[in-house]
Amino acid sequence: MQTYKITSITDVTDRVRQFDLLVADNTPLPAHDPGAHLDFQIPNVGERSYSLIDWPGNTDTFTIAVQREDDGDGGSQAMHGLTVGDTLKASGPINDFKLNEGDTPRLLIAGGIGVTPIISFATQLAARNAPFQFHVAARSAGICPFRETLETTFGPHLTFWFDDTNQIDLQTLIASATPETHIFCCGPKGMIEAVRERAESAGFAKDQIHFELFTSPATHVGDTPFEVEIADSGQVFTIPADKTIIEVLEAEGVDVMYDCARGDCGICQTDVISGTPDHRDVVLSDAERASGKVMQICVSRAKSARLVLDL
Ligand code: FES
Repeated sequence: MQTYKITSITDVTDRVRQFDLLVADNTPLPAHDPGAHLDFQIPNVGERSYSLIDWPGNTDTFTIAVQREDDGDGGSQAMHGLTVGDTLKASGPINDFKLNEGDTPRLLIAGGIGVTPIISFATQLAARNAPFQFHVAARSAGICPFRETLETTFGPHLTFWFDDTNQIDLQTLIASATPETHIFCCGPKGMIEAVRERAESAGFAKDQIHFELFTSPATHVGDTPFEVEIADSGQVFTIPADKTIIEVLEAEGVDVMYDCARGDCGICQTDVISGTPDHRDVVLSDAERASGKVMQICVSRAKSARLVLDL
């Protein structure tokens, strides 16, 4: 765990704010690869992950961007309340979203604030003269984070798609990619699911499709508590509305394996013995979801009063 101090803050759009960070004791910044993130400990909120943005030549500071979610759980609002000179503890950099080896063509697709790790990929690919296309989708031009900087920096590789003028056509984009292309997508759940579906039906192998959710869909306003029974031990735990299964089990000393805690890596997948999961991941196929036999316990919840899990 490292303490970082905020050295500058820039408003990128009405809701997106950029933070530049240095290690508080002025020791060198830890090394990282494109796609890495820091896990910040936000007082009174908990852990939140933000991707490091590597613009060309930006090696002296860590840069993150935070979109304020007014109906969120308070993490982004707390971040927006910080001022220059404030400090934050964070672990990492951690990288669950890496560029593949070699110089295959890459199709980079970003939705909204999901552009942050994709910028780092584009910076590295452009520096290597590797072939890539960079597609950025947003609801409208006015709320597209970093629009002008993206244009100036990645112009020839870049295409903008705005829902109110020219909505992104994932079907055509993916269908026109060559078979050896690796596809990288970061954005909201619906976009990731659409990219995965279209890429798989266009014949791309699973290991050519890389994705990362930019927000955790773990808890929503209106969620209610439910029970989890551990099949092995018979222990029963109540999962409150504002906690995930993993958070509760870990706090109770149950050994659980997980990594991303966002529902996009698949590590925490658990067999369901009985009960009905409320799936919130982007890992499972439609058939797996419909079966109700497996779930990602880092984000998914229950539609039934109790889940019995094979743990
Ligand atoms: S820990 Fe990654 S999907 Fe649950």
